[in-house]
Amino acid sequence: MTAARDAFTVISPGRVNLIGEHTDYNDGFVLPMAIDRGLRIAVRPRAGRMAVVSSDRGGPAAEIDLDGPLAAGRTDWGRYVAGVIAGYRRLGWEIPGFEAVITADLPAGGGLSSSAALEVGMATVLETLCGRELPTAEKALLCQRAEHEFAGVPCGIMDQFAVAFGRAGHALLLDCRSREIRPVPLADEVAILVIDSGVKHALADGSYAARRRDCEAAARRLGKVALRDVAPSEWPAVEALLPEPERRRARHVVAENARVLAFAAAVEAGDWMRAGRLMAESHASLRDDFEVSCRELDLICEAAGKVAGVFGCRMTGGGFGGCAVALIDASRAADIAADVQAQCGEALGAEPTVFATGAAGGARLVAG
Ligand code: GLA
Repeated sequence: MTAARDAFTVISPGRVNLIGEHTDYNDGFVLPMAIDRGLRIAVRPRAGRMAVVSSDRGGPAAEIDLDGPLAAGRTDWGRYVAGVIAGYRRLGWEIPGFEAVITADLPAGGGLSSSAALEVGMATVLETLCGRELPTAEKALLCQRAEHEFAGVPCGIMDQFAVAFGRAGHALLLDCRSREIRPVPLADEVAILVIDSGVKHALADGSYAARRRDCEAAARRLGKVALRDVAPSEWPAVEALLPEPERRRARHVVAENARVLAFAAAVEAGDWMRAGRLMAESHASLRDDFEVSCRELDLICEAAGKVAGVFGCRMTGGGFGGCAVALIDASRAADIAADVQAQCGEALGAEPTVFATGAAGGARLVAG
């Protein structure tokens, strides 16, 4: 790879997680996919030592001095850019000045990983400008660290890995301990619908970190490295050792890990009814035990779950708002999407945005 001297464009996708929520930071399993919506970042080199990044969402451009100190503490979206630049600078990379314009067709704060799309997209931009690449897993981990240090969210690895490793037509079964990825092909018989509750989530408000602390405390109390190490068969014997709410949090994680593996097997076998049931169970567990759903997401999943042709529906992502994901019969996708929108609209009192999406490739250079 040689350093870019001309203009170029990077595409960075959002993601939906089909199943495996709040399991990544417990060393567990997740099954996300990169989607065909995301960010388009148009870049051109610029004389001098500044990065100037603007967005079609408005607001002032983020201006970052490439030689200056990059402290955490910014509150604008430029903090994600600064965090990624800081990561490459820490590795000793000399980043040339550039200008970037971002356009997006992903709801911001909608639970589809707009922040990971920005981080991994910017990492791809910096690698293109410098004419060298990190191994993809290292790039994703650098972006996760940017999120921890510059956005204050102690997230797991799912989002950055999904955005970096996305593969067209496949979901990714990711073992968050070994970081091994098994691509799971999604048959043409099924389609994925995203239903946006319109409730903006803010993972930095402390609830996400609190859930993570509950899980870590539960693992410690059980003498385990992580909740991943508690087998479902072991659960009845150990649950009484945990106080509430740790018990409920751990019950979710233990069962959810098993559901991810069962779901991947059901998808590989084309058993859509079983896959759908597992999604419904996942949602109930996130609502009742992990307590990260909200009224709107519950109403959406209940209403969508009753529509003919919907195999299953659940909240996706960190929760507290954002989107739900449904697995549907692809042969009638347009009709089903319309029914889901109408039924959810009736339940909520206002029709939510609904769109069908497909599994797409990860962040990549598309032109230039
Ligand atoms: C957010 C985090 C992820 C993951 C999900 C919940 O999206 O960024 O690491 O923990 O929440 O599954």
